[in-house]
Amino acid sequence: MSMAHRLDVRPGHKVLDVGTGSGYSAGLFARRFGDENVTSVDMDPYLVEAARTRLAEFGRTPRVAAVDATGELPEPEYDRIMATVSVRPVPASWLRALRPGGRLVTTIAHTALLITAEMGPDGVARAEDGSAPPVHQGGPRRLRDDLERVRGKWEENGRFPLHTLRAELTAEGGALLSPDGPWVFTV
Ligand SMILES: C[S@@+](CC[C@H](N)C(=O)[O-])C[C@H]1O[C@@H](n2cnc3c(N)ncnc32)[C@H](O)[C@@H]1O
Repeated sequence: MSMAHRLDVRPGHKVLDVGTGSGYSAGLFARRFGDENVTSVDMDPYLVEAARTRLAEFGRTPRVAAVDATGELPEPEYDRIMATVSVRPVPASWLRALRPGGRLVTTIAHTALLITAEMGPDGVARAEDGSAPPVHQGGPRRLRDDLERVRGKWEENGRFPLHTLRAELTAEGGALLSPDGPWVFTV
């Protein structure tokens, strides 16, 4: 839900939901913004068929396609892309398909980063705030709190400021940039 909230879909936007899975996120978008505005893709044909059937039982008929989203997409342009599968690099096809002013919300594989990037008129999608997804903790030892303390130490020492980094993503490749520029991390 946090990802969908970040996506900030407006009426009339064309939405690409990457990772159909159960069909839940596609169903939410389709109900709120109209079946005709929603495309959902998953590389697993069985999941796609099951989700299509499940959604139809609720009267929802977004476009659902069995596609490996790291390759070409079913349609050439979208206003919003939300990926509930993490990627690295961000596929070039997504960056080509995102309209200027469009927004991409994705996690970056092998990191804990959730990126919200806006496509500029120059073909570069920029994220000003790579933040960590919310973590629900339980049990006697709050491991997330321990990690946050370690991160705090790093930040005090000017290293790995992961919560305030910037990102620049293009169809040719992407990079995570620290705010003051001493390091660049290719994605
Ligand atoms: C966390 S689940 C998605 C959850 C889904 N949004 C929901 O509401 O149930 C991730 C999905 O991404 C799919 N997936 C993984 N790699 C993919 C790829 N390269 N292209 C398309 N789908 C992919 C998996 O098959 C899996 O169903």
